[in-house]
Amino acid sequence: MYKILVTDPLRQNALQIFEEAPDVHYETHYGLSEDELIEKIKPFNAVLVRSATQISAKIIAAAENLKVIGRAGSGLDNIDVKAAEKKGIKVLNTPGTNAPAVAEMTIACLFAVARNIARADHTMKQGLWEKKAFSGIELNERTLGIVGCGTIGKSVARKAYALGMQIVVYNRSRVEMDDVPFEQIGLDDLLRRADFVSLHLALSEETRGLLGDRELALMKKDSYLINTSRGEIVDEQALLSHLEKGHLAGAALDVFCNEPDYNKQLAANAKVVATPHIGAVTKESQERVGVRIADLTLEFLRSKYIFL
Ligand code: 3PG
Repeated sequence: MYKILVTDPLRQNALQIFEEAPDVHYETHYGLSEDELIEKIKPFNAVLVRSATQISAKIIAAAENLKVIGRAGSGLDNIDVKAAEKKGIKVLNTPGTNAPAVAEMTIACLFAVARNIARADHTMKQGLWEKKAFSGIELNERTLGIVGCGTIGKSVARKAYALGMQIVVYNRSRVEMDDVPFEQIGLDDLLRRADFVSLHLALSEETRGLLGDRELALMKKDSYLINTSRGEIVDEQALLSHLEKGHLAGAALDVFCNEPDYNKQLAANAKVVATPHIGAVTKESQERVGVRIADLTLEFLRSKYIFL
């Protein structure tokens, strides 16, 4: 029997794959502390996570039978990949499967900050009619700066272009995108030119703190920052200060440096639209990532190992 431990919620259709497999025993245990996971993980051959569970080197060291760590989603920053590889444990993820959801969330964020949707709704719920307070701006003909132009960044570019936006991108390697006119430029230039800057990078030692005080200061006066990637890419204190001093017009933040214990002061700022890392949380996306990681994990285990 393949023993599979699921430590972050997966959709039922993914769990169904394990239920129907005659050679699988699986358990779901959500919200475990590091110590609890160290205790729990010993007999399991696979552990499946989303972004909440941290698979640390200590957990990997304690995992006596672990062959595969499956990440239902794209970001691997919550897994000590080096420690896993050193121990010969395969790390699988599902890059691209949640791109439609994250790209749509990004477009929703653009509209939310440009048209003050969240704040206007909040005042309506208080019985107010503050039409004059919520003058917005149009996305049409504005410049969108896409920082990191992989699958999600490209999808955002296509949707934003269809809305009449001009697209500039910053990406380490050359970007190929035949169906959208765009300019690939340096990061500093992008920050100076864009009316909206949207981040689509994975978190790594290279991207951590990429947008600090200096970079935020380069952003155009009254521009907006959209972050649906990882909170740690932006210096939150510096961002708050640029919002407070009126340099930036606003920010839409779906991700924070610390989750779930997020920066309350930043989220409470009137210029910020804050959401709790829901970029990939759609019915369709969760079904896709769950099924994909369940299939990949089983395929890997079955092709490499036989446990009786
Ligand atoms: C990802 O890296 O796939 C996204 O950030 C989604 O994270 P989640 O699975 O915790 O929603």
